[in-house]
Amino acid sequence: MNRSIILGTGSFAPANVVTNEDISRKVETSDLWIRERTGIRERRIASSGESTSDLALEAGRNALRNAALSPADLDGIIVATATPDLTFPSTACLVQARLGIPGTFAFDVNAVCSGFMYALKIADSMIRSGQCETLLVIGAEVMSRFVDWSDRSTCILFGDGAGAVVLGKSGSSQTGGVGTVTLHADGRYWDLIHVPGGGSRSPVETEKPPGNACTIRMKGSETFRMAVRSLEESVREVLKEEGIGVNELDWVVPHQANIRILEALSERLGIPLGRFVVNIDRYGNTSAASIPMALDEAVQDKRIQPGHRILLTAFGSGVTWGSGLVHW
Ligand code: ACO
Repeated sequence: MNRSIILGTGSFAPANVVTNEDISRKVETSDLWIRERTGIRERRIASSGESTSDLALEAGRNALRNAALSPADLDGIIVATATPDLTFPSTACLVQARLGIPGTFAFDVNAVCSGFMYALKIADSMIRSGQCETLLVIGAEVMSRFVDWSDRSTCILFGDGAGAVVLGKSGSSQTGGVGTVTLHADGRYWDLIHVPGGGSRSPVETEKPPGNACTIRMKGSETFRMAVRSLEESVREVLKEEGIGVNELDWVVPHQANIRILEALSERLGIPLGRFVVNIDRYGNTSAASIPMALDEAVQDKRIQPGHRILLTAFGSGVTWGSGLVHW
C-alpha cells in the first residue's frame, strides 16, 4: 500500500500589518477586549493589488523550494479556499498557470476553515491509490474582502495568508507520512457562519445596497461551543484509530480561530497548551490557510523534528470539521 509523506512546507502572508489599535479606530472595541476574547494582537491584510492566488502562489513556491522540487515535478494542485479570486474558474487553475505547468490537474476545495484538512485527505487518497505521486496542497484566503468592517464582532477576527505542503509518495526507505485523517460536516448548521450574497441564491446585482450582503455573518458563541465539542471528538477519533494516547503526540497544529477555543481543547484533551502551535496572535483567523501556515512556522523554527507525531485539527463553516495525524 502506498503512503503519502510531506516533502516540504511553505507559507506567505501579506506585508501589511493591521493591529488591534488600528481596528479600534474604526469600530468601538479595544486592544484589551480583542486580546482577552480571541488572543489576536494583529493580522495581515492583503493590499488592493493582492488576491488569493497571489498568496497561494508564493506559499506554493516556498513549499516547492523547501522540498527541493520544481513545478514540473507536480502531478496536480489542490487549493483549499473559501475566498477564491473569481467565482470560476478555480484559484488552483490560476496558480497552475503561473507555475507554468499546463496539463496537470488543478481544482479548489471549499470547506472554509476545515478546507486544508479536506484537501489533505483528497491528496493523500490520490497518492495512496496510486493515481499520482506528487501534489501541491495549498490553503489560501483573503478573508478581509468578505469582512464587514463596521461589524466589531467579526472584523476583529480574520486575516489573510496562505500555507502549502508538497505531498509525495513515500519511498520504501522513508518512515513517517500521513496517517488517519477523519472528515465531518453537518450542513444543518450552514448559517452559523456564512456569506449570504454573491452566490446563485442571491447574486450581487440584486442586492440593495450592493456589497454588504457579501460579508461574513457569524453566530459567535454558538460557533465557539460547537467548535470545542467537535474538535475534541474528532481528535479522540483519530487517536483511537491510530491506537495512541494524547501523551504520544508531540505537537498539535490546530486551526487558529480563537485562543480560548484552543485553551478549552487543551484542557478537555489533557494536552498542555505549550504543545499547541499557536500563531493566532500575529495572523488572526486565516481560515483554510491557518493550519499549513502554523505547520510551516513550526517546521522552519525546528520545533517539529523527524520522528514527531503531529496532530492537525480544524473546525469551520458548513459546519465542517476534521483531524489528522502526520508522522514526521
Ligand atoms: N469589542 C468589544 N465588544 C465586543 C466586540 C468587540 N470587538 N465584539 C463583541 N462585543 C460585545 C458584544 O456586543 C457583547 O456585548 P453585550 O453583552 O452587551 O451584548 C459582548 O461583547 C459579548 O459578545 P459575545 O459574542 O458573547 O462574545 P464572545 O465571548 O462569544 O466572543 C467571539 C466573540 C470572539 C466572536 C467568539 O464567540 C468566537 O471566537 N467564536 C468562534 C469563532 C470561530 O470559531 N469561528 C470558526 C470558524 S470561522 C470560519 O469558518 C470562516
